[in-house]
Amino acid sequence: VKKLTELDVRGKKVFIRADLNVPQDDAGNITEDTRIRASLPSIQYCLDNGAAVMVTSHLGRPTEGTVGPDDTLAPVAVRLGQLLHRPVRLVADWVEGGFALKPGEVVLLENCRCNKGEKKDNEELAKKMAALCDVYVNDAFGTAHRAEATTHGIARFAPVACAGILMGAEIDALGKALQSPQRPLVAIVGGSKVSSKLTILKSLADKVDQLIVGGGIANTFLLASGKRIGESLAEPELVKEAQAIMDMMKARGAEVPLPVDVVVADEVSALARANRIPVEEVGAHDRILDVGPKTAAKLSEIIANAGTIVWNGPVGVFELPQFAGGTKMMASAIAHSEAFSIAGGGDTLAAIAKFHIAEDVGYISTGGGAFLEFLEGKTLPAIAALEARFKD
Ligand code: 3PG
Repeated sequence: VKKLTELDVRGKKVFIRADLNVPQDDAGNITEDTRIRASLPSIQYCLDNGAAVMVTSHLGRPTEGTVGPDDTLAPVAVRLGQLLHRPVRLVADWVEGGFALKPGEVVLLENCRCNKGEKKDNEELAKKMAALCDVYVNDAFGTAHRAEATTHGIARFAPVACAGILMGAEIDALGKALQSPQRPLVAIVGGSKVSSKLTILKSLADKVDQLIVGGGIANTFLLASGKRIGESLAEPELVKEAQAIMDMMKARGAEVPLPVDVVVADEVSALARANRIPVEEVGAHDRILDVGPKTAAKLSEIIANAGTIVWNGPVGVFELPQFAGGTKMMASAIAHSEAFSIAGGGDTLAAIAKFHIAEDVGYISTGGGAFLEFLEGKTLPAIAALEARFKD
């Protein structure tokens, strides 16, 4: 794709599609602003180079045609202004243009998903938005899996279409990890359900040298390998799929290292008493809620010897201290590893924050769904739209 930093934007009108879809509390206060911070380099680059900058994003999943009180980007405009150290004006009803904007200025265009036709990638809307600018910049990696008018259609009609600095960094990091990885390539896929990660597991089984599974996903794999898992969360109907993934890995000389010991309890609660036992000793009423210390040590060794690590999902119920040991040890192994590591997804980011390893992970993706679809090996429509313009 063409990159923003390769362009001369002086005096140009630049339209940046960012992903400023940040969580807010009931009073509308922003509770976490990573995505706003991550969008700053592209905006600052354009301002420093004398462009007139308009930024837009979606927020939530509003009804098209109106801007409800929960839909407005007003709090985002305030935070963006604080971070850029300049006022950021919020522009409503912007699709037809007509708002003032000078070189060296930045405005925030109200929630783009409130415009009729945004979600359906309406061509007329995309053309109107494209007519607002000389350069279209897509910096919204978090929304790259959506083909909407601001992430997809506009890229066809804008005079120039390119990837922003964040988008470029995401594409480079994910490409480095999955398309040309330093081996051994180790993936950690945790979480509760095989069904929600089946495509990822299948796609990774074709690429990685070790596939570490965790949480409910590991339980289904344990079932597939003939182990008893008591009352643990699992999907018995997917045992065949799990078996097929293990067979596929084995045929390639690759491994799915399953837990040899586990932490069990009879309930998932803060008061639950945890027992560490070999996996063979799991009782009829036990629930597996974490990997045991032997397994954690083995997984840490695999991680220590990795060339590249891709991490999505915890290996235990890490929110509760008695079941956090496995995920903590893995997080620490990733932090100490020389390997290039990438991580993404809500639970994973929460674990990274909890164990204070953000500084030591090679790259933390801002994508939730987009990160998962990239791992699934899918073509992300927003990236495809930029690629299609590359030849220009
Ligand atoms: C996200 O939060 O994952 C992105 O901003 C995409 O949001 P969406 O799932 O509402 O399209």
